[in-house]
Amino acid sequence: MMGPKLLQLCTLLPSTHDTLAARYEVHQWPAEPAREDWLREHAAGVRAVVTGGHLGITNDLVDRLPDLGIVAINGVGYDRVDLDHARTAGVRVTNTPDVLTDDVADLAVALMLNVMRRLPAADRHVRDGLWPSGPQALARRASGLRYGIVGLGRIGHAIAARLAGFGGRIAYSGPNRKQVPHDYHADVTALAAASDVLFVATAASAATRALIDGAVLAALGPEGVLVNVARGSVVDEDALVAALLEGRLGGAGLDVFADEPHVPQALLGLENVALAPHVGSATRETREAMGNLMLDNLDAYFAGRPLPTPVV
Ligand code: DGY
Repeated sequence: MMGPKLLQLCTLLPSTHDTLAARYEVHQWPAEPAREDWLREHAAGVRAVVTGGHLGITNDLVDRLPDLGIVAINGVGYDRVDLDHARTAGVRVTNTPDVLTDDVADLAVALMLNVMRRLPAADRHVRDGLWPSGPQALARRASGLRYGIVGLGRIGHAIAARLAGFGGRIAYSGPNRKQVPHDYHADVTALAAASDVLFVATAASAATRALIDGAVLAALGPEGVLVNVARGSVVDEDALVAALLEGRLGGAGLDVFADEPHVPQALLGLENVALAPHVGSATRETREAMGNLMLDNLDAYFAGRPLPTPVV
């Protein structure tokens, strides 16, 4: 017997997809220009949507699926889903927190090390056969610094735990002071002024849009390094590019961008910038765990059980 009808918007691990297809009647969201025809023919009866954190779902698509009951996000971020709209439409929303925390924190620290120790340039130095002609330019020490974390949630905590092994001093900002042995700055600019490396680990929302603006970058200064593993929207990307090009910021490690998969051309030639294509959670182990949690949420919804990780 076919399971409930489901629309899949994002790519999934083959193992996750196979399990999904065994339990549900899975339809793939077609590329344009085939979407209107697909909606006319198949929209009725779609009870679930599976999507990625970076994709979410448009309000228009929610409205075009009259039988939709749940949007299961295969990711932790839900900034691409209008939660108020989902509530009004009576649609539940779930995500996959916790299982990706360690990987994202690992990547944040890796990006810091890449920038401070100039590892992308070091790799090229060896591969391009430059080593016999001389040493690479000196890097900068990554340990014993002042580390600032914007957003001490799950991922921020995990970054702090890793940084504890680097010596130095950890501070953070966020809406509330927490029971932690780190310095608290209510104001992000003040945190940046007190940091050598500023990690952005806050959830994207209207409140955090362009939170890291020109003033924050100026406070971080020409020796400061910005690491962003949250969302591109949290940083004013134009201000970031300008600060890097003009030497007003020391460097940046970036996994997320304003208009993915497009990266500002100006960043590509900068030696003090380390780039990654939004891969914070992209390990086999974590993607499998995310897929399982997404499936658990769907299965719970259709079995009438409490959702393991509800957002709405
Ligand atoms: C997440 O889980 O939100 C990742 O950033 C992928 O979008």
